[in-house]
Amino acid sequence: MDWGLKNRLSRMIKPATGRSVMLACDHGYFMGPTHRLENPRKTIEPLLPYADTVAVTRGVLRTSVDPKWDTPILLRVSGGTSVLHEDLSDEGIITSMREAVRLNVCAVALSIFVGTAHERQTLLNLAKLVNEGEDYGMPVMAITAVGKELEKRDARYLSLACRIAAEIGVQVVKTYYCEDFSKVVEGCPVPIVVAGGPKLNSETDVFQLAYNAVREGAVGVDMGRNIWQNDNPVAMIKAIRAVVHENASVREATQVFNENKTSTRTVEDAIHA
Ligand code: 5RP
Repeated sequence: MDWGLKNRLSRMIKPATGRSVMLACDHGYFMGPTHRLENPRKTIEPLLPYADTVAVTRGVLRTSVDPKWDTPILLRVSGGTSVLHEDLSDEGIITSMREAVRLNVCAVALSIFVGTAHERQTLLNLAKLVNEGEDYGMPVMAITAVGKELEKRDARYLSLACRIAAEIGVQVVKTYYCEDFSKVVEGCPVPIVVAGGPKLNSETDVFQLAYNAVREGAVGVDMGRNIWQNDNPVAMIKAIRAVVHENASVREATQVFNENKTSTRTVEDAIHA
């Protein structure tokens, strides 16, 4: 592997543990002002010191992340759809590799939609990006997106999508946690991180997801809503860090969360309010 590519990759996946806590804040590219990401700067800034990398689009990077921060950036480069459309798979590449280099990011990320009408298009987008990434020493992360079809997230489908991404030559794959997740990891010869997905019912469920994922072979998480939609986002990311980097148990992560929370309003309180 080329030195530049290796160096960028190790800014993202920390060599000390071989793991990574990526903070996903790229939802606006098709979801618009997502709940609690309405003002990206306000959401992102308090979390930057605890993220190994933050995933954003170039628009949010330029407007809402101060360049003085040295948290590595994972640049979302696919898009072209909105949540108003039934089919979210019709994506293209929206930001050039030249721009990614200019922005000094540590990797670029693109969604693939395996098994959809735009499977071929999104896989060829990925191949183009990997080819350019090789030229510039830029790691590429594939995201095995399912659009609105959340029920697709089983080991059989995710194994197929992750393996195809790895065969195209990406350095990292982001996918979902699922039952039999270790089979997904086994069939994918590059590191995998897991998304959090829509907000879960409790903090414990989030810690359990992260715990199971790393125990079954993920190198970490690329998590968004379950961190910044929580009333205590800093406490959440600190607890997730404990799981990912220190192999903390769910009980230990809950302790970290409780020690760091500033608001007493928990997810359960909000549900029962
Ligand atoms: C948006 C994404 C998100 O980055 C990904 O889904 C992770 O965020 P979350 O944990 O909120 O699911 O790819 O399209």
